[in-house]
Amino acid sequence: MLCFSFCWLLALCGCTLANIQIPEEYLAAIRQDRADDQSAGEYNYDKQGDDWTGTCATGSKQSPINLNLDESKIVAIPRLCFYHYDQALQTPLVITNNGHTANMVIPPTRGGQRAGINGGLLPGDFEVQSVHFHWGSKNSKGSEHSIGNRRYDVEMHIVHKNVKYDTMGEATLHPDGLAVLGVMLRSTYILTFQNGLDKIFNQLPKIEQYSSNATITGTLTVGQLLGGIITDQFFTYNGSLTTPDCAEAVTWTVFSAVINYSGRQIAKLWKLKDSREKPLVNNYRKIQEINGRDVYFRAL
Ligand SMILES: *[C@@H]1O[C@H](CO)[C@@H](O)[C@H](O)[C@H]1NC(C)=O
Ligand SMILES: *[C@@H]1O[C@H](CO)[C@@H](O)[C@H](O)[C@H]1NC(C)=O
Ligand SMILES: *[C@@H]1O[C@H](CO)[C@@H](O)[C@H](O)[C@H]1NC(C)=O
Ligand SMILES: [Zn+2]
Repeated sequence: MLCFSFCWLLALCGCTLANIQIPEEYLAAIRQDRADDQSAGEYNYDKQGDDWTGTCATGSKQSPINLNLDESKIVAIPRLCFYHYDQALQTPLVITNNGHTANMVIPPTRGGQRAGINGGLLPGDFEVQSVHFHWGSKNSKGSEHSIGNRRYDVEMHIVHKNVKYDTMGEATLHPDGLAVLGVMLRSTYILTFQNGLDKIFNQLPKIEQYSSNATITGTLTVGQLLGGIITDQFFTYNGSLTTPDCAEAVTWTVFSAVINYSGRQIAKLWKLKDSREKPLVNNYRKIQEINGRDVYFRAL
């Protein structure tokens, strides 16, 4: 069975992944993630999501939103706790161009545990599932949330699932199903080395084509993706997935600290292509109405 799947994969991707054995469980997780992404049907960013239907059009707790310090409730919020965020992940790690973003399904750590989070205003314990990015283009910034009406160059999403649900599919059916960490990246002219992000961004030239993938075999921890930012200050609110079906299942935690990152690395994102072979740029959804929701800010 194991050999069969591996041969099947090799047949599909030629020699790119030759000699790299991908554990069956991780392959299954990648396939499931792909299926989840496709289950909502075809979508694109031609209208920044304005033409998406279903909950995307009718929902009242949609994301992203503008995060305004003045309009946030600054209350005592527990700090966010990170589990196994400093543990090396199993390898290989597979990064895929799924036509909407560059996505990496996150496997367990080498010790067999799942990195996860709790604390903040999170309604439970959440384990990490995947990481992906939203970006602009040569002439525009592409974060999804804005902070004080200011958009950043890139927004990274680290997606987590409530441990009480078995699958992402099930989690999206519940308001406490998912927790996403949002991290803003600011493009800099200065060469900036980022232990974690570099591992992903260095592979981007290999996944410019839709449906292509690349692997990382070195050491990566989920924590390294945070680029050493201070995680004590963040906005948190109840919202939705920012892609169809826009399920209102997400407790958002968006850090106010920003990662400064090389413009040369960020520019690699703009070269990705979608399933129509069009440049995959400006893959961010328009700002949504707050509709009276509470937005909280955790101050130092
Ligand atoms: C890698 O890409 C091919 C298409 O190029 C795809 O069919 C295959 O499922 C991908 N493999 C993984 C592990 O995602
Ligand atoms: C999310 O909604 C639940 C249920 O209404 C509420 O108890 C919780 O405080 C909200 N969380 C945030 C971060 O607004
Ligand atoms: C990031 O860059 C901004 C603007 O260039 C600068 O103000 C800020 O101090 C930098 N942050 C860090 C952590 O270097
Ligand atoms: Zn996202």
